[in-house]
Amino acid sequence: MSDAIKIPRVPPPMAMLAELTHRCPLACPYCSNPTELTGADEELSTAEWISVFRQAAALGVLHVHLSGGEPAARGDLVELTRAAATLGLYTNLITSGLGLTEARVNSLADAGLEHVQLSIQGVSPESADRIGGYGGGYNRKIAVAGWVANAGMPLTINAVCHRLNMDEIEAMIELAIGLKARRIEVATVQFHGWAERNKAALLPTREQAEQATRTVAEARERYRGTLVIDYVPADYHSKYPKACMGGWGRIGMNVTPSGRVLPCHAAETIPSLSFETVRESSLAKIWYEGGAFNAYRGEDWMPELCRNCERKAVDFGGCRCQAMALAGDASATDPVCIRSPLRDDLTLEANAFSVASQADFIYRGRASKT
Ligand code: SF4
Ligand code: FES
Repeated sequence: MSDAIKIPRVPPPMAMLAELTHRCPLACPYCSNPTELTGADEELSTAEWISVFRQAAALGVLHVHLSGGEPAARGDLVELTRAAATLGLYTNLITSGLGLTEARVNSLADAGLEHVQLSIQGVSPESADRIGGYGGGYNRKIAVAGWVANAGMPLTINAVCHRLNMDEIEAMIELAIGLKARRIEVATVQFHGWAERNKAALLPTREQAEQATRTVAEARERYRGTLVIDYVPADYHSKYPKACMGGWGRIGMNVTPSGRVLPCHAAETIPSLSFETVRESSLAKIWYEGGAFNAYRGEDWMPELCRNCERKAVDFGGCRCQAMALAGDASATDPVCIRSPLRDDLTLEANAFSVASQADFIYRGRASKT
C-alpha cells in the first residue's frame, strides 16, 4: 500500500458502515443486501477488521455502524466492538437481535458499545415472524430490547415499512416507547438488492404513504421530548428524491464483508464502477482517490437539469443506484424527481404495483451462506 495520497479536496468521512457478515437467520423479503451474498469463507478476519477500524479512526471517521447481515453471527463481535471503541470510534450495533443473549449484550456494553439499533418487522408475533420468515423472532427481539435497556445502552427501533405493515406505524411507535427506545426510524422500504424482487408485494399505495406521513407528523407532536421519530417516506410517491447517503462520497462509506469499499450499500448495482478492497489498498486512498467514490462527487457529473436546479444542494441529485435501476443510467436525474422526464412512467408503475393483487413474498435465501 502506498501512503502517497493526492487530494484531499473533499472532507474526510464521518461514518462507516461495517458490514461484518452477510450471514443472517432472518429471510426478510425487503433485504437490501445484494442478491449474491458473500460467503463466510470470504469475510475479513478479526485482525483485518481491526486494521480497517484503525485506518478509519486515523482518516477521521467518528461513527462505526456494526452491521450485516446479522453482525451477531460473527463470533468475534465483542472483540471487534472493543477494538473500535478503544480507538475512540462511536460504536452502533445494527441488529435483528437474533444471536444475542443477555450475557452477550452485557459483554458488548462492557466492551464499550454505545448504541443499539434493533429492527422490528411488525407489532405482533404473527405479522412480524411472517415478514421476517423466522418463527419466534418477535419474542426474541422484545427480550433483547429489555437486555439493552437493563445494560444502560440507548436503543433505536428500526421499523422498515411497506404495504403489509404500513397501517401499523402508530402501533410501532407505541411499541418503541414501551421498549424504552429513545428513537425510532420509520423507514419505507427501498427497492435495492433482494427487495427489488418483492416490489409487487411491498410497494405501499399512495393513500398508505400519505397516511403514514400524517401519522408520523402527529406522533412527533404527541411524543416530543419522549421519542425522536426519524422518517423515510415512500419515495415512489414523493415529489423529490431523498438525499441518498447525504450525497455520494460526501459523508460515509460502506465496507462489505469481504472488504470492498463502497460509496453506498447498493453501489455494486452500477456496472460501470469497480471497487477496491482494503486487502489491496488503504481506506484513505480509496476514499480520496478511488474511481467509484469520485464518479458522482460534487456537481460535474450531474445532468443539466440537476446542475441548474436550486435543490441540488438539498438532495445532491438523488439516488445514483435508483437512477441506475429505473433509468438504466446512474448519472441520470433520479426518476423520483418531479422534474425528471421519467417521472410520469414511474408514477404509472408505482400505481400499478401498489394496487397489484397481493403477491407472495420471495423470501431471502440463506441456506448456502450460513
Ligand atoms: Fe434534485 Fe435534480 Fe430533481 Fe433538482 S432536478 S430536485 S437536483 S433530482
Ligand atoms: Fe446507492 Fe442511493 S442507494 S446512491
